[in-house]
Amino acid sequence: MLQERVPDLSRRLSEFVEPDRVRREVYTDPAIFELEMQRIHERVWIYCGHESQVPKTGDYYAVQIGRQPMVMVRGADGKVNVLYNRCPHRGNMMVGDRHGSSGEFFRCSYHAWTFHHDGRLRSIPMMESGYAGTRYGKDNPDCSMKHAARVENYRGFVFASLSPEGPSLVDFLGKAIVAFDDMCDRAPQGEVEIVPNCFRVIQKSNWKIFLENQLDALHPSVTHQSTGRAAHEVEKDIEKKTGHAPLSYHMLSAFATVTIDKWDNFQTLNYPHGHCILTGYMGLRPKDPDTLAYEKTLVDAYGQKRMEEILGVNIHHVLIYPGLSVQSPLQQLRAVRPLGVDRTLTEIWHFRLKGAPEAIYRRSLAYYNLVNSPATLVNADDLENFWKCHQGLSSEGGDWVSFARHFGRDLQKGEVVETAANCGTSEAPMRNQMKAWARYMAAQ
Ligand code: FES
Ligand SMILES: [Fe+2]
Repeated sequence: MLQERVPDLSRRLSEFVEPDRVRREVYTDPAIFELEMQRIHERVWIYCGHESQVPKTGDYYAVQIGRQPMVMVRGADGKVNVLYNRCPHRGNMMVGDRHGSSGEFFRCSYHAWTFHHDGRLRSIPMMESGYAGTRYGKDNPDCSMKHAARVENYRGFVFASLSPEGPSLVDFLGKAIVAFDDMCDRAPQGEVEIVPNCFRVIQKSNWKIFLENQLDALHPSVTHQSTGRAAHEVEKDIEKKTGHAPLSYHMLSAFATVTIDKWDNFQTLNYPHGHCILTGYMGLRPKDPDTLAYEKTLVDAYGQKRMEEILGVNIHHVLIYPGLSVQSPLQQLRAVRPLGVDRTLTEIWHFRLKGAPEAIYRRSLAYYNLVNSPATLVNADDLENFWKCHQGLSSEGGDWVSFARHFGRDLQKGEVVETAANCGTSEAPMRNQMKAWARYMAAQ
């Protein structure tokens, strides 16, 4: 065990992360995992869900923040609260299912203590006779459900932090806030709504392996080559027969047509707190009647100039460290919930652009099903790599994980690290994530 080798874990953690490589224990040691939960996931802003998941008073969704079971619930005042999913009486979880309606108040299934949707105690059966002269009663805050230290909502996306200290949500997101602006701005009504429900996948690998893969621009044309090639064959056939192939084939064939050498043409922008943006690589603005009809709805809503600005935002992927991957032009979102050092839950969601034609929603649904769902070969290709990486890192075949690709060529511009021209496959995003990791882990 690591603790035996390294008695003072905190002090020695800095030795696990070098600018271009990290020790394998960072992915495999249960003691490091526990510390990550304390110092990262249970401190920083974590995405809970979208407010459209809980449209009515009393609607709730259970959500995991670090090791803490939480519940996101809509109160009578319209506010979305995030509470610990625990009854203050004897600790029973207040809700045992993933989502539902609690009605006008929460009622514990064990002894019927009831609570308002902001967590305040509402009643205890026979409270006066049962608790007279004890420390328990309505005015004791220990009798209420505990709430997350901070909750903020940005354009409908609800985040919580279990620490009372730290930057505001907007400061924490920094430039990565574009993930939500880009997604919402693409809606003629300026808002999105979630499409219930999500896919859930449990990966048998450490949570950081998933995050590192999200902006790994070298892997798609290798890992997903066979999927891309097969789709490209069919796409060409359809094109030959009908003159054009549906955009959904392009979503898959791009994995093969954007060949390994072309990936260096793109760019990643790396920000404080470990966030990162990968610029766009797929043509998503064809001239078909559906796209033109959609563009017209945007012109009607915002005018020609603003429409061009909105559709001109050139990003494919935004990673918000430590637990969110957003593909805003396609309205996709994946939330990462670590379950253990070698087990990670991902929740895979997609959204509808309010006011956009149905055909545009179908595009988002196609990407969701073809690329991000557990049923697609793309996701399966990645999952196999994640599992194999975790197995390899658990072995004694080597001590280090390398992030040296294009190391030394990054351009530091203020707080932003940009990959240099023709360095799109740089491992700068992984270096940036580990830099943030080391900083979080060093803070007591
Ligand atoms: S455990 Fe909830 S009322 Fe007793
Ligand atoms: Fe992939």
